[in-house]
Amino acid sequence: MYSILFAAAFTVSVAALNNGVGKLPFLGYDTWNAFACDYDADKVLAQAQAMKKHGLVDAGYKHIILDDCFTLRNRSKDGKLVEDPDKFPDGIKAFNKQLNKLGINGAAYSDAGYQTCAGYPGAYGHEAQDLATWAEWGFDYVKYDNCYIPFDNVTQQNVKGRYQRMADAIADRAAKTHSTPFWLGLCEWGWQQPWIWGKTVGQSWRINGDIKPWWDALAAIIDLTSFQYWASDFYGHNDLDMLEVGNTGQGNPIGNLTYEEAKSHFTAWALLKSPLIIGTDLTNATDQTIEILGNRDLIKINQDPHVGQSISPFRWGIGPDYVSNSTHPAQYWSGPSSYGTVFMILNTEDQPATMFFNLTESWDIRAGRVYSVYDMWSHQHTGTALRNLTLELPAHGVAALLLNDAGPETGEETEELPYCAGYWQCSYPNGTYYSN
Ligand code: GAL
Repeated sequence: MYSILFAAAFTVSVAALNNGVGKLPFLGYDTWNAFACDYDADKVLAQAQAMKKHGLVDAGYKHIILDDCFTLRNRSKDGKLVEDPDKFPDGIKAFNKQLNKLGINGAAYSDAGYQTCAGYPGAYGHEAQDLATWAEWGFDYVKYDNCYIPFDNVTQQNVKGRYQRMADAIADRAAKTHSTPFWLGLCEWGWQQPWIWGKTVGQSWRINGDIKPWWDALAAIIDLTSFQYWASDFYGHNDLDMLEVGNTGQGNPIGNLTYEEAKSHFTAWALLKSPLIIGTDLTNATDQTIEILGNRDLIKINQDPHVGQSISPFRWGIGPDYVSNSTHPAQYWSGPSSYGTVFMILNTEDQPATMFFNLTESWDIRAGRVYSVYDMWSHQHTGTALRNLTLELPAHGVAALLLNDAGPETGEETEELPYCAGYWQCSYPNGTYYSN
């Protein structure tokens, strides 16, 4: 007797959860990169006021995440989280109301294990109870970390299953209380390919360990995202981690990004459709920091209500295509938007470079057309592009361009008609190959 086993064909569903929240990347502030555990109500309210004063709330940054350390280290007798009376003397609810007056909402931080990474209570086994507490305090979002994981025989779950517990609690609470579901930001540091399943559990997922405020760290994250860009779309976003813009000479740890590097950082995070989460002390922010964080042109693409996808590389920089190079990630990127074709050209070299590309290397560009060029850093139209562009970029510098169709090539722009940017197979009607 033979028993024949038929292999079932499984389709892995990667449709986004889409419970109505988090269609577009999260825009906000988080206390961690600037202050680690060293913050209190006054310090955070000062950040909120600075956000308002500098126009960042109007630009779309409407949440502040209290990262690790905002509760006491022990739960109450009935298992409830207890707010820290030294940090929040009037209570967190009152604190969140102060934020609300500035047009900002508070957001919580917790952990899928027994404790948060800094040793405060984690939500494992307390998911529904903690959600109720956060809601009572006025939060509507939780960043969910991955420390102090219970033993396998306790969880009997893998990473996804551990995060699913909170997602289920969120769905239950929303159904029972007829309220908007909490926004769930997964933070399992890219351990287990969250770009594949994260969107079925929450609205964003960290793809990497903690960011550091220097160029090598940014380049490595951009390199990683050059392989995972496809995962971001409406209701689910790769989270490249909190921004380090503004942390030159300050922050935790102290950063050293140049102005050009900070611009590249913000450009990549915005155009790769990452959450944009400010992580610097805004009370002493320079004009350059505010200029970068407040770049409306880039925020507009990040928050495009009609096109959710990220830019993707059309050419790698140093080394062959599709080979990971954490110090020299892809340099030539493009993608669609409601406002035109987006290009990000990144000089990953340590010295200035001349960057050149044919427009039709981007799939979103039509051949045989002239394009108008808008620079999303100078905020100006810089002219028209015919067939290709050449840019001079400083070390670790970036160009962020929007190209829009400005009509067919007429031949007046150039003597070089006929023309094929794609040389191979280009032919006259009679079958004679044309070479240009
Ligand atoms: C890390 C997390 C950081 C920060 C920190 C707090 O695991 O990646 O973003 O939240 O914990 O302890």
